[in-house]
Amino acid sequence: MVREKLITTLVFASAIVAAAMVADFAITIVILHDPAGYTPFVTLGISTLIAIPVTYGFVSGRANLREARDSLAKAYIVAQTARADAQSALRAGEEARAKAETDRATAIEASRAKSEFLANMSHELRTPLNAILGFSEALSIGTFAAKREEYSRLIHASGTHLLGLVNDLLDLSRIEANKVELHDEEIELDDLFHECAAIVDPGVIQKNLKLDLHIATASPYVVADRRSLRQILLNLLSNAIKFSSAEGRVELFARTEPDGGLSLGVKDEGTGIPDDEQGRMFERFGQGRHDISHSHKGTGLGLPIVKGLIEAHGGRVTMESTLGEGTIVTVWLPPERIRTRSKSSVA
Ligand SMILES: Nc1ncnc2c1ncn2[C@@H]1O[C@H](COP(=O)(O)OP(=O)(O)OP(=O)(O)O)[C@@H](O)[C@H]1O
Ligand SMILES: [Mg+2]
Repeated sequence: MVREKLITTLVFASAIVAAAMVADFAITIVILHDPAGYTPFVTLGISTLIAIPVTYGFVSGRANLREARDSLAKAYIVAQTARADAQSALRAGEEARAKAETDRATAIEASRAKSEFLANMSHELRTPLNAILGFSEALSIGTFAAKREEYSRLIHASGTHLLGLVNDLLDLSRIEANKVELHDEEIELDDLFHECAAIVDPGVIQKNLKLDLHIATASPYVVADRRSLRQILLNLLSNAIKFSSAEGRVELFARTEPDGGLSLGVKDEGTGIPDDEQGRMFERFGQGRHDISHSHKGTGLGLPIVKGLIEAHGGRVTMESTLGEGTIVTVWLPPERIRTRSKSSVA
């Protein structure tokens, strides 16, 4: 650096000295015609004495200026980087805050849904239990002997209902623990559909509904766990019946899909479900159920069980629903579970 400064100083100082010599020569000899007044050594000495410190000062000043400018540029870059870092830290902080808020809202919602589920469940368990206790107590009193048959029937119905609830709870806990056991067998769809239709018949008659069975497939046999498949269809049918108004139409259907799989499902013309609630219907505790009268309220176990059982078969469930127009819930079984002919008929 110093060497560079000295060289530059020497170059500039030599130029200045040369200029002073030329000026001295021009003024004294050319303009004044006074050869005696021409003192080159004096001019050389004086101009050298002045030129070197002045030029050195100038060169150093310029170098300092350049250094200062470079440090300023570096400081500017450091400041910019620090600003960018601060901004990304701020952004990360905001994202973390937003995530924490979403997690909190989800936790609150989950806890609300759990409490609602427990309240519903207690209600569902208490109602048939009260009936069992009340009617059995009445039976033990002689005065009610005439009603024995009716009360026994009500006790049996309440007990069956309770057993259904307990079974649903056990099924859901098995699904959540990934402990669903499938006993695969060959099932004929027509047979299964008629079995399910017979089970839900009282509800269909009570509401004066029209239940259509529609099998549009050249592969009418599936390999699945019969109890699970029946439970899936019964859950879907019971929802369709529950949420249909009197004299509506419910369809239980099966059709082959382009991928070779089989779709089974239930279509109704009932209340429908609002768009923003449809995704949550398959979640545990039946979160976000839309407003229905208390008598309609179930435990919210049906659809989560449908989802768990069909997924255990390697399938999936989808829902299409329009508020006020109706709902279609479809389960899909993979091609490897579909048969065009019964094994027994092949044998
Ligand atoms: N076909 C349908 N039409 C209108 N709403 C439906 C239909 N199927 C399901 N839902 C809505 O989804 C909710 C959850 O259904 P899900 O079968 O899981 O529970 P549930 O029927 O209320 O109780 P459970 O089946 O345990 O007796 C229902 O409460 C209802 O709000
Ligand atoms: Mg249900």
